[in-house]
Amino acid sequence: MCGIFGYVGNRKAGKILLEGLKRLEYRGYDSMGIAVIENDELRVIKDVGKIDEINKKLHLENVGGRIGISHTRWATHGGVTRINAHPHVSCDESIAVVHNGIIENYQQLKKELSEKGHAFKSQTDTEIIPHMLEEFYKKTKDPLKAVLETVKKLKGSFAFLVLFKDYPDRILVARYKSPLVIGVGDGEAFVASDVPAFLKYTNKVIFLDEMEVAVVKRDGVEVYDGISGKRKEKEVVEVDWNLEQAEKAGYPHFMIKEIMEQKESLLRVLGQDENIMKAVEMLKHANKIFVVAAGTSYHAGLVARYWFVKLAGVDLNVIVASEFPHFKNLVDKNSVVIAISQSGETADVLEAVRESKKRDAKVIAVVNVMGSTLMRLADLSLLINAGPEICVVATKSYTSQLSLLGLLAHAFVGKLEEGKEKLKEMQKKVKEFLENENNLKLAEDLAENLKDKQHIFLIGRELSYVTALEGALKIKEVSYIHAEGFAGGELKHGTLALIEDGIPCIAISPLDKTRDEILSNAMEIKARGGKIIGISEENNEVFDEFIKVPKLNGNVFHPIMMIIPIQLVSYYLAVKRGYDPDKPRNLAKSVTVK
Ligand code: AGP
Repeated sequence: MCGIFGYVGNRKAGKILLEGLKRLEYRGYDSMGIAVIENDELRVIKDVGKIDEINKKLHLENVGGRIGISHTRWATHGGVTRINAHPHVSCDESIAVVHNGIIENYQQLKKELSEKGHAFKSQTDTEIIPHMLEEFYKKTKDPLKAVLETVKKLKGSFAFLVLFKDYPDRILVARYKSPLVIGVGDGEAFVASDVPAFLKYTNKVIFLDEMEVAVVKRDGVEVYDGISGKRKEKEVVEVDWNLEQAEKAGYPHFMIKEIMEQKESLLRVLGQDENIMKAVEMLKHANKIFVVAAGTSYHAGLVARYWFVKLAGVDLNVIVASEFPHFKNLVDKNSVVIAISQSGETADVLEAVRESKKRDAKVIAVVNVMGSTLMRLADLSLLINAGPEICVVATKSYTSQLSLLGLLAHAFVGKLEEGKEKLKEMQKKVKEFLENENNLKLAEDLAENLKDKQHIFLIGRELSYVTALEGALKIKEVSYIHAEGFAGGELKHGTLALIEDGIPCIAISPLDKTRDEILSNAMEIKARGGKIIGISEENNEVFDEFIKVPKLNGNVFHPIMMIIPIQLVSYYLAVKRGYDPDKPRNLAKSVTVK
């Protein structure tokens, strides 16, 4: 949930560290700090607040040195205070550490270290790392050995970077169950939580695996097995993300940029027929198929369930990742688990996958971030190729997940080519809708009418029921307005009691078999004073407001189209309410802690 970034080379460390952190800010932003070695001194500068606020005071871009580590925090252990901000240092202040993850046995280790005389300043779990390193460094006088001994003592998850004042030419790094990648430049090197942080300088990447330790210098990287301490050869991969993909490309926010990217992002799932057919083979031999995911990715799993039932008469057990422990006994060696995750780092999903593998189940990953932990754990990975999704709120990754899952469902019944045609058709409709400026204006006007509402309801049936759930999540997480999605048929079972004069309700009503029933549900709401906002190809007298989408001709991929107007309304709601849609309060892009 935090962003970590390190640099060693010939540029001014302060400026590079600041740039790198800015690109990781969506991973967490309640406090930040840097450590550099300058004139053989180890300097630590940190404070509470967002990066820009802190930098206005401290002018980090002027900080010298040619090597440094840095951190932007999303608090897990210990409140949001300057003392709890990273980096944390050893007693003699010769070792500085930044960390992303949770050290689950930190209390025990803190007790042992305190008994040896170590004094702790913060409430964090992280602070035990520099003190543990100090213990081992005193014994071995070797920074690599100190790190190798330390990682053996830690339980939980960690990706950490270390500066040793005595070794101003290298950054020691270690990763276990938290993301960490190394960027290899020309006479310089970078280490970060994920790739966009250093894309401006290099796209040559070393993806560290679980329990690997590395010594990162400006002229080379050495990787070691964290258990045996043996040197490992690692491939340098050229990632095909370039910088503008990771920047706003002229849009005011990443969210609107990523919504608009859906004009062409859907088809990036194509070109992996071989892996899709391998996945189909695995699924056909499964006695049970589970889907495990969180948040928006969970909604993608729910849509996939309807598709598998509709197309193949096969049900999927779609389980919220954090609830998976209560179902794990159902998983066995004949099961297949489809894990859906944009980041590939969601702790609950990774835990479910590790548990499933322990039970000899096969795991198929539907993932966006290349080299992510989920990708490395899975038996087979299907990449959604949506490109970096920087906004905390998932938009293009959702529709790309649906694109891939829809192809998988069609391939499962031997209709992959038909699925591709339907997806290409849907891509055209999405492009047509997003290229029509009137639609953006309409969504903005609708947001203007809704921005002061306390509650917004959404209803749908069958596939559109899931669109209602996903739409509600979008509105809630980015505008902080309470929103709830319902199956239209559920209204009479309670929710109708909430309807009073002026309550807005979005009715998702494609021209399919659910149309008549959802219109009658909308009438029940209208009769009690509700205001109906219809999203459909065709208007209807029950709609007080109407967002027209292109004719979908019954295309089963319609959840891709129907969510987009709601994504736009959510974006404009956030902006009109004065919030930053890219960094909603209390949320982070990747929930890497349970
Ligand atoms: C989506 O808008 C949310 N930001 C959140 O629910 C997200 O979908 C969830 O945390 C899962 O993330 P993942 O896809 O990276 O696993």
